[in-house]
Amino acid sequence: MKEYSNGEITIVWRPETCIHSAICVKTLPKVYNPNARPWIAIENASSEELTAQIKLCPSGALSYFINGEKKEETNSMETKVEVLENGPLIVTGKITVIDKDGKEETKENKTAFCRCGASENKPYCDGAHLKIDFKG
Ligand code: SF4
Ligand code: FES
Repeated sequence: MKEYSNGEITIVWRPETCIHSAICVKTLPKVYNPNARPWIAIENASSEELTAQIKLCPSGALSYFINGEKKEETNSMETKVEVLENGPLIVTGKITVIDKDGKEETKENKTAFCRCGASENKPYCDGAHLKIDFKG
């Protein structure tokens, strides 16, 4: 997990959660550049632009909190299940995931579950649906 702050807000980046939709890169290219290090240039946009964009991240890999407030913002308090075209199942809200061995894990914000069968991190999506050109 990595954090990027502009003094007003802090972006939280969870690489293992990213489903490589590239929505961040397309909607705010002046901030998100996968070829640059660091890849997030938080100083290139206002806090309003950044938070509006983060709310579009389908997987919850990007989230933010307002500095001085501990809790990360989530897009919605209600639990929502959404099927992404040609991609994962996105669950928004706090959930408990129990794996096949009975191990429990709490997930907050958004969780992407694999629908294509190709993820190497099941039950979660790891972006492999793009590699296999999953349709559905
Ligand atoms: S899942 Fe979120 S962080 Fe990953 S590429 Fe898509 S918009 Fe960017
Ligand atoms: S749906 Fe994304 S890896 Fe399967």
